[in-house]
Amino acid sequence: MTFAPALLDALRNARHVVVFTGAGVSAESGIPTFRDALTGLWARFEPSRLATAEAFRADPSLVWGWYQWRRSLVHRAQPNPAHRAIAALAGKVPRLTLVTQNVDDLHERAGSPSVIHLHGQLERPRCFTCQREPEAPLPVPDEPDAGRHVTPPACAHCGGPLRPGVVWFGESLPMNAMDRAFEAAENCDLLISVGTSGVVYPAAEIPQVAWRAGATVLHINPAPGPLHGERDFALASAAGVALPALVEAAFS
Ligand code: APR
Repeated sequence: MTFAPALLDALRNARHVVVFTGAGVSAESGIPTFRDALTGLWARFEPSRLATAEAFRADPSLVWGWYQWRRSLVHRAQPNPAHRAIAALAGKVPRLTLVTQNVDDLHERAGSPSVIHLHGQLERPRCFTCQREPEAPLPVPDEPDAGRHVTPPACAHCGGPLRPGVVWFGESLPMNAMDRAFEAAENCDLLISVGTSGVVYPAAEIPQVAWRAGATVLHINPAPGPLHGERDFALASAAGVALPALVEAAFS
């Protein structure tokens, strides 16, 4: 792959880089995205039945079972070259802030030292009633069946049902994560958006915040589209190809 000299210079000279990731960065690890036609989760499952508090109230075991299936997919997956390139980039620039919409732990498992999760984490379930998290991590299921009903464990403190630790449609994003992500976007020199459709707000606002603050913005997506707003550069490429090549071209 070849890159515009101006993009390589922007990366080499950046004092603060923000990397903003979506489901596409985990696609090459075998984790389904949400909106890719045919293969995306929302093409195969009904979000209103699985990704809302109302759905959990209506059928806790269907929702808990589905997220256990997603946990088992992540557990069986490995970080891909995109995750590893982002982790490596943190050691090549003065400051890197990694902001993800993803709820998997593949960035952490690739070695990224700090990850801002805007939409929560599969590995952080909490009580639906009292919001407390379990004392110890829950065992990872070998859950092959996305449709199997699994009764959620009971909270050790109040007996309420544990819920997945993700942000559901209609719920607010964690304020601390949002504040940190927006502060980084307002103060970075370069924002690299990778593997996101850019349709879910407020997270999708982050590249635009960086753009308005004068940062250079790069989008990496095999299917970049008008949804990706203002940007200086767009690479119509898979994350696992573009990111390692970009880091290599800029710093080798
Ligand atoms: N490399 C880079 N991008 C890819 C790859 C790849 N290998 N494969 C697919 N993509 C792109 C797709 O073209 C698509 O634009 O990744 C994007 C994934 O978009 P979505 O499925 O909408 O995922 P995301 O943008 O992360 O969704 C945001 O929506 O449902 C909510 O909470 C959920 O966090 C999620 C949010």
